[in-house]
Amino acid sequence: MRTLIQHAHCVLPDGTREADILIEDHRIEAIDPGAVRADVTFDASGRYLIPGVIDDQVHFREPGLTHKEDLATGSRACAKGGITTYFEMPNTKPTTTTVERLREKLQLASTKSLVNYGFYIGATPDNVKELKKATRTPGIKIFIGSSTGNLLVDEQAALESIFAETTLPICAHCEDEATVRENSERLDGGTEYADHSRIRDHKAAVIATLRSLQLAVRHSHRFHVLHVSTAQEARLLSENYGLITAEACPHHLFFNVNDYERLGSRVQMNPSIKTADDNAEIWRALLDGRIPVIATDHAPHTLEEKDQPYPKSPSGLPAVENSLALMLNQVNEGRCTLEQVVGWMCDAPARVWDVVGKGRIQEGYDADLVLIDLEASRTIRDEEQVTKTKWSPWHGQTLKGWSTHTWVMGQLVFEDGTFHEEVRGSEAKFDHDRGGFWASTED
Ligand code: DOR
Repeated sequence: MRTLIQHAHCVLPDGTREADILIEDHRIEAIDPGAVRADVTFDASGRYLIPGVIDDQVHFREPGLTHKEDLATGSRACAKGGITTYFEMPNTKPTTTTVERLREKLQLASTKSLVNYGFYIGATPDNVKELKKATRTPGIKIFIGSSTGNLLVDEQAALESIFAETTLPICAHCEDEATVRENSERLDGGTEYADHSRIRDHKAAVIATLRSLQLAVRHSHRFHVLHVSTAQEARLLSENYGLITAEACPHHLFFNVNDYERLGSRVQMNPSIKTADDNAEIWRALLDGRIPVIATDHAPHTLEEKDQPYPKSPSGLPAVENSLALMLNQVNEGRCTLEQVVGWMCDAPARVWDVVGKGRIQEGYDADLVLIDLEASRTIRDEEQVTKTKWSPWHGQTLKGWSTHTWVMGQLVFEDGTFHEEVRGSEAKFDHDRGGFWASTED
């Protein structure tokens, strides 16, 4: 099957220009192939073509918590949002903490997922053996602070052995368990949603991030800081030692503690949202390269669950179908360029996790592609969300700049509001010998 996408403004590794892209089966066969025969020709005049977004942090809840989301609904929402590859977290039920469980999730995704997929293996205080055996994964996830579920590795000896004995890249949820517990006791568990940011405060995030960075440097181990939420953590990232990368999530860019009054538990997340100064510094860190990646931490809970009073209300919000549009809106507002968005959401995650053949529009790369209408204006509505929980913290917000078409491995999976439900993504492949973000300027 050959598809020719003509006349799009293509965001290529060396700049943006009008080009024709020839897809053959699952690969980008040629850029500007000249006169060729194709099975399908697609006129993309006036639109922008970018590599598919790679979201390196989602929670799709399957197995075990599928009343919140599952691999079919989560991946469908990805297709709508221009995400062609996701890496999913291990706090499902059961947890993904053995090679066998990892294999089971991969198998499940192969039958259900509309876009490409990968799954982290979760660390426990005593599963180093499994972590050492795992291969088909972006890396190891450690909950250094607890969040949804019961995964937690807090003891220093266990953390030292994970960093010393394993070779896969490691990422972590960094909130200091002792600080969170102390704050919670002082506030008697908390009574209002805004207490969430008092309990999971700046100090909790900074202590845990610093602790992880010290582990990474001491053991010369590649390490990725998930969801940076404070200015201080962003400042710590100015030294990367060739080992450390980090990511920002849309909710830590666009929400702060002033939003609790309006949005209540809809903005209750771990790590918690912080202040406007933190938003500003995280933005600066993206723009100056200290934070190379944007990911969603898509973490759906039903509205019924969210509407419980604090602290019963669970932490997490859905984001995969809007994250790209939120950033395209920023392009339209002049805060960043489309090329920077492609860097943060496509190229950098591919390099951080050594993903083979993804993250760029380049000959020989996978045909994971997204077409964008930068002029389209649309309002996010709870009732139009395709994630299972059908709500968004951005409900009512109008954004300019939306994806309109998504190709996964050369297959058109989303087309102007219509899904091609029969499409299935593929397992992402990792070449960890590439050495991660700082080692891979070119491959
Ligand atoms: O708020 C959160 N919810 N943060 C996480 O890291 C986990 C997530 C979840 O799984 O619900």
